[in-house]
Amino acid sequence: MDHFLYNNGELHAEDVPLSAIAAEVGTPFYCYSTATLERHFRLFDEALAGMEHLVCYAMKAASNLAVLKVLADLGAGMDVVSGGEYARAKAAGVPGNKIVFSGVGKTRDEMRMALTGGIRQFNVESEPEMERLNAVALELGVKAPITIRVNPDVDAKTHAKIATGKSENKFGIPIAKARAVYAHAASLKGLEIVGIDVHIGSQLTELEPFRLAYEKVKELTLLLRDDGHEIRRLDLGGGLGIPYERSNTAPPLPTDYGAMVREVLGDLGCEIEIEPGRLIAGNAGVLVSDVVYVKQGEGRQFLILDAAMNDLIRPAMYDAYHDIVPVVEPAAGAEPEVYDIVGPVCESGDTFAKGRSMTAMREGDLVAFRSAGAYGAVMASEYNSRPLIPEVLVKGDQFAVIRARPSLEDMLSRDSIPAWLQR
Ligand code: LLP
Repeated sequence: MDHFLYNNGELHAEDVPLSAIAAEVGTPFYCYSTATLERHFRLFDEALAGMEHLVCYAMKAASNLAVLKVLADLGAGMDVVSGGEYARAKAAGVPGNKIVFSGVGKTRDEMRMALTGGIRQFNVESEPEMERLNAVALELGVKAPITIRVNPDVDAKTHAKIATGKSENKFGIPIAKARAVYAHAASLKGLEIVGIDVHIGSQLTELEPFRLAYEKVKELTLLLRDDGHEIRRLDLGGGLGIPYERSNTAPPLPTDYGAMVREVLGDLGCEIEIEPGRLIAGNAGVLVSDVVYVKQGEGRQFLILDAAMNDLIRPAMYDAYHDIVPVVEPAAGAEPEVYDIVGPVCESGDTFAKGRSMTAMREGDLVAFRSAGAYGAVMASEYNSRPLIPEVLVKGDQFAVIRARPSLEDMLSRDSIPAWLQR
């Protein structure tokens, strides 16, 4: 459930009409709902109640400081994958002991930053990374807490570009090698083993792949304990999907997921960590855009919006489906039209939807892309020299711009012309 509903004939974010925000900040823009972010975080937190746990929001999904602060205020931990994300988590007030550091390519600088600023654990993804982290920790005279990410070779049954748990993927170490790698880690004086990490992919719409992976993690926990390692924490990754297409069967809920985790892993006495991103932020955000033209093509009509693939890359990159709805509620019984919904960028990939049926639209009408809160603004670029679009946060009847739209001057001022080209 989210807090983007029609009220008095107009789509609102909580109690604020989206048209009121559009009038103030211009289009396109991203808009997040505080109540929805909070609700989704709590669903996970409650789903794991009774087990020692920490929900570490995968901030790659939406990392605006204001979004992070909403979650940090509820006690969320953060899953970060770069020095930049680490800095954001700290700036939002998240203590180091609630930050986990994931990612296959951590650099020395990132390791130093986290070891000096405070870290709950590094999720180590390879043997070379383990050696380097050990060296950096020894240089600093500290011990780095680690889990090792295992690759369980499980099919997550999701889009190939976001599946991470098969042996051909770059992530983690093969689970069959885990005992040897843990034995090596235990011999390195700069490391302290605290547990095991696994993440098999994103936008999973079934529990079964999770269950298969977690059963393998359970088996490994027992083996590693037999080998004398202290496995006290299991990081289970993120990945639970959201219903993008409302007509499809909805993916399992956090409650179902929590029940499965308890059933498979509940008797191990481990602290559970999870790293949900999409489920917390996805349906907590919309992208609002304006119809620039309605163009008649050969046997089709194009709805040309002022938002483009550089603002929301998911349809171009993953053939992702997003619901696109008019901000003014269609009259009951209004005849729908069929549109190809596109942006202004100069490539055919800049298509959000083909043959989409929606109420008749005119120039200047507003549309909202639903489920755009996760992997929306964070994946935006300035392709075609289109400045990054603003982000707005709503809470009840208030809204605030949480990232301003840069001016063209702001954008140009980042470039410089070398002396030899100036005269
Ligand atoms: N933990 C790790 C180690 C991850 O790599 C990811 C996502 C997550 C947690 C969070 O997964 P979530 O709960 O959000 O599914 N840009 C793509 C999604 C990429 C996901 C990358 N990793 C998209 O727009 O669909």
